[in-house]
Amino acid sequence: MKIVQISDTHLTHTGGPTEDGFRLLVKHLNEEVRPDLVVHSGDIVVLHPDDAADRTHSKALVDLIEAPLLVVPGNHDVGQPGLNAWAGINVTDERVAAHEAVWGPDHWRHDDEAAVLLGINSELLTSDLQREADQWRWLEKTLAELPVGVPVLLFLHKPLWAVTDGPTEHQVDVGPVARDRLLGLLDGVELRAVGSGHLHQYRQTQRDQAIEVWAPATAFLVPSEDDRLPETRHELGYVEYVVDDGEVTAEFRTVPGMPQLTVEDVPAIAEAIAAMTAE
Ligand SMILES: [Fe+2]
Ligand SMILES: [Fe+2]
Repeated sequence: MKIVQISDTHLTHTGGPTEDGFRLLVKHLNEEVRPDLVVHSGDIVVLHPDDAADRTHSKALVDLIEAPLLVVPGNHDVGQPGLNAWAGINVTDERVAAHEAVWGPDHWRHDDEAAVLLGINSELLTSDLQREADQWRWLEKTLAELPVGVPVLLFLHKPLWAVTDGPTEHQVDVGPVARDRLLGLLDGVELRAVGSGHLHQYRQTQRDQAIEVWAPATAFLVPSEDDRLPETRHELGYVEYVVDDGEVTAEFRTVPGMPQLTVEDVPAIAEAIAAMTAE
């Protein structure tokens, strides 16, 4: 079974460079890779969850992928929890509902003969919304009912394990409280892979029996002065997982001809960062 994880497409209804790169990715997946399944690990839209035009246009673009598609939301799709949300964009019931109206449920279980895939909304974790409590209840029930002997792959936007020991300006992973609770629930589950996005860089790390995979963005690279993690790969692309006889492996893949854009190449992002810096 071949699964492709794409992430951080940051698409906008105004088109532009992130759409040009995304169209190259779609062509490559449809014509060359032909995966059994594609998972999008969030930040589908360029910047703001309240921009309905961006969401509608992104849906039309992502639907060009011929393989079956599963989606989990990112902070730019539904907002994020906490006091210091990026650009003050917090997760709310309304934002999650607007996302679900276009993309379907924000958490899901997908059963295949070779594996079980689970997707969760990382942006709800520690939000204290009723939706967070509902997702925890769903997780407890779902994990308790998993079949024996089938590998499990979990997908979420923010990394499950800590990204850095040092302080960060904005939340970069799910945080220690949600992490401990999730890992407690996952104890005993045949977890073989955890795929996340958000960081716009690739890394693969062994975590007990599972590989932790940070998927690269397809849209743009983050500024190099933020590189605290030299072991990561700073390149746009996607991840290809192969599930074979209970084993799960993952590889970084590039898209032929895809330009390596940075934030300066994406006007909506560059302007938002400039506006925040000027505050
Ligand atoms: Fe992103
Ligand atoms: Fe993100």
